Amino acid sequence: MTLPALRALACPNCAQGLDQTGRRLHCPAGHSFDLAKQGYAPLLAPGSNATTGDTADQVAAREEFLNAGFYDPLMDAVAAAASTDVPGVVVEPGCGTGHYLARVLEAEGERDGIGLDTSKYALRRAARRGPRRAAGTQERLAAVLADAWNRLPVRDGAAAAVLNVFAPRGADEIARVLHRDGVLVVLTPRTDHLRELVGALEMLSVDPEKPRRTADQLGDAFSAERTDELRYPVSLRRPDVLRLVAMGPSARHLDASALAEAVDGLPDPIEVTVSATVTRWRRRDR
Ligand SMILES: C[S@@+](CC[C@H](N)C(=O)[O-])C[C@H]1O[C@@H](n2cnc3c(N)ncnc32)[C@H](O)[C@@H]1O
Ligand SMILES: [Zn+2]
Repeated sequence: MTLPALRALACPNCAQGLDQTGRRLHCPAGHSFDLAKQGYAPLLAPGSNATTGDTADQVAAREEFLNAGFYDPLMDAVAAAASTDVPGVVVEPGCGTGHYLARVLEAEGERDGIGLDTSKYALRRAARRGPRRAAGTQERLAAVLADAWNRLPVRDGAAAAVLNVFAPRGADEIARVLHRDGVLVVLTPRTDHLRELVGALEMLSVDPEKPRRTADQLGDAFSAERTDELRYPVSLRRPDVLRLVAMGPSARHLDASALAEAVDGLPDPIEVTVSATVTRWRRRDR
């Protein structure tokens, strides 16, 4: 079966377009890439750092937590902000399990999507998550192994929308792949995100400077068009809390037994604040 969004993908070595023969992608210069058994396309540019991706445990926790629906309002807000009439695909660097990208594709009808990540564990899930055109037919989400800090294997201007959700963002590459009139949708946590857990569990807190840093990173190439602030409570049971911690950046630095003890000391269920900003950016040079 042809990889979704094939025409929007580019060779990571020479930036030319890709074609597909069987399970092999190839460019006119003769570079070729075999699709992984699990369905993702390995398109790492030379010099990429592929060790940055989430671990199997982080990804499994994220999958279960997101499946439970606690972040559905965030996904809906991203989908609403990503709506556009511009032709092209939806691209998400750092797509993880593909939950947000799949939600956008469902809302966007016929569009294909490209989810990029350095975690093979995440890509295996993303490759299976995309909606299909009709039962048993063409899938719509291409899962691609690529480093968001390097050249993206996406053709110039091929993206109607780029999503950036709790993930690395390289402004120059996003601007290059985004259509002149396309939209960049960025979700960033606010300082009170998960505040009931951050103190109690010594989780990494959100840097109060984050909005300024995001604006610094994007401000040269993009201007903010619209901002939605979301804040709502969720009621979490202990297994949900453990998954939430395990899926995030704190997972790597917390001691498992100390964490289990700390979670045992929390109310069950516990009411926790979800707080994030969804901003829609446009290219300044449109
Ligand atoms: C906090 S998770 C967010 C995943 C997804 N956007 C979500 O919100 O469910 C960050 C993701 O970025 C990926 N990642 C980290 N460094 C990366 C890089 N240099 N290039 C591409 N993906 C990266 C991780 O593997 C992980 O899937
Ligand atoms: Zn090539």
